[in-house]
Amino acid sequence: MFNRAYYILLLYSIFIYAFSYAFVLRSDQNTLQIIEVLDEPNSHISIIQDTVGNKFLVKQSKHVERKLGLVAEVVAAYIAYSIGLPVNSVYLIPSWVDIPGKSMQRKPATLHTFVPGRTLSRPGPYNFIHIQQLCYYYHPPEKRGLRRSIITHMSLHKDLPPIVAFDTFVGCSDRKRKNLMYDKETDTFYLIDLEKAFQSGLAKLACNRIHHMIHSNEHFTQKEIIGIRRYRETLALLINSFSPNKVCNMIDVVMYLSGFNWPTSTIDHSITEQYKKTFTKNYAEAQKLLHLLDKFIIKYER
Ligand SMILES: Nc1ncnc2c1ncn2[C@@H]1O[C@H](COP(=O)(O)OP(=O)(O)O)[C@@H](O)[C@H]1O
Ligand SMILES: [Mg+2]
Repeated sequence: MFNRAYYILLLYSIFIYAFSYAFVLRSDQNTLQIIEVLDEPNSHISIIQDTVGNKFLVKQSKHVERKLGLVAEVVAAYIAYSIGLPVNSVYLIPSWVDIPGKSMQRKPATLHTFVPGRTLSRPGPYNFIHIQQLCYYYHPPEKRGLRRSIITHMSLHKDLPPIVAFDTFVGCSDRKRKNLMYDKETDTFYLIDLEKAFQSGLAKLACNRIHHMIHSNEHFTQKEIIGIRRYRETLALLINSFSPNKVCNMIDVVMYLSGFNWPTSTIDHSITEQYKKTFTKNYAEAQKLLHLLDKFIIKYER
């Protein structure tokens, strides 16, 4: 009984969240203007503006049906937003809602709030930061996961440990400099591009690195210990707030609402099944990681 009420509530809240902007924009279509089109290798991206000057981004992957990254992006952005991370808000535009900037009108897209600042791939005070937890699978173990250089870099700004913990939790290995923005005016980092969430077992890689650090004798600065503490805090919050059951249901709901299945069903559901499997496994490893982080803090905190 409880479960049923819970899922109806969950479905309802995602429905409201995902559709509110799509419908507002649909009714306001004539007043929306495309002001810029970005030429990205994997996505069609249009920047649109409403009559009062609010800017949004409409994103549609060139392989939207083959990769279903849009489903991962909507669910992961919802998780980040729910725990108060600085993330661009991502709304689902189902296949049947047409808005300016959608390059393939009969396919789903996402609408993103426009975040200030520039990506770290462009010149700026933090453009040396590198917090991508997995660049290549063939890299040696010491270059994969939450390694020392990431701990050092994430400890340089209070926004970064929660961002790294979020990536570990959702298994998003795509946090290259182009997918992280920094705004000088407000001194804030923003997460963008979550399409690769639910694809990597980053918690296991982090366990391996932390385990290694516990059994070696390294020196960590006070700043780095504070960084690890903040990382642990966010990871614990995520583990308590988003069980595998909840996240797997969200993936199913967003998949259903996107309209991929209508009118014909050519979608490969094994992709979202794989997201669910990867997340469930990663969640169990994240629980182990919490215990290892406690041991790490006891060992290195003075
Ligand atoms: N919410 C946003 N606000 C401002 N610029 C953005 C936003 N999202 C994306 N961009 C810009 O568009 C580029 C491509 O977006 P991204 O989501 O990373 O697409 P892709 O999946 O093709 O890499 C980014 O590198 C950034 O310059
Ligand atoms: Mg990107």
